[in-house]
Amino acid sequence: MPKLQVLDHPLIQHKLSLIRDEETGSKEFRELVEEVSMLMAYEVTRDFPLQEIEVKTPVAIAKSKVIAGRKVGLVPILRAGLGMVDGMLRLIPAAKVGHVGLYRDPETLMPVEYYCKLPPDIAERDLIVIDPMLATGGSAAAAITFLKERGAKNIKLMCLIAAPEGIQAVQNAHADVDIFVAAVDERLNDHGYIVPGLGDAGDRLFGTK
Ligand code: URA
Repeated sequence: MPKLQVLDHPLIQHKLSLIRDEETGSKEFRELVEEVSMLMAYEVTRDFPLQEIEVKTPVAIAKSKVIAGRKVGLVPILRAGLGMVDGMLRLIPAAKVGHVGLYRDPETLMPVEYYCKLPPDIAERDLIVIDPMLATGGSAAAAITFLKERGAKNIKLMCLIAAPEGIQAVQNAHADVDIFVAAVDERLNDHGYIVPGLGDAGDRLFGTK
């Protein structure tokens, strides 16, 4: 069974409240999304294995630990996922960043990929798909499918806010993908927005409302 982890650290929850507030303008919104993404990256990487090394300090040789050769790929879903990249790169600076863009076909209502540029070695990387809002789950599930079709094996999904419907959809489609969120909200409304949510994450990040 895939894991759902709600990251309820006080700093994450405090900053998420500010992000939700409709009075928060784009500049502050962007900064807060970056900060929360950084804090979430700390938890999402908790299972990374360590290896022991020796470090010469000014005093003696210390047996110390470093992350064991893990190669990470971040995959923001365009466009709102972009807002979470910089915060994660602050903690995982060696990560490569791929991008996936999707739109919904108005006739079939199926997600269609319009852009995909990935690191060439995604099969060897721990991939973290990032999208602030897990609403219906359609885009996230489709993005994960596209990544698997290109060889990805080890994928996590990280979102700020999820609707129960979105979590269910991703878990049904991808039983192997662990999901990390800062909050699970009540539901989706008739327009596909998460309630209470934070509105349109892309518009709030980029000031396009
Ligand atoms: N995308 C958003 O930006 N907000 C929602 O509430 C749902 C999807």
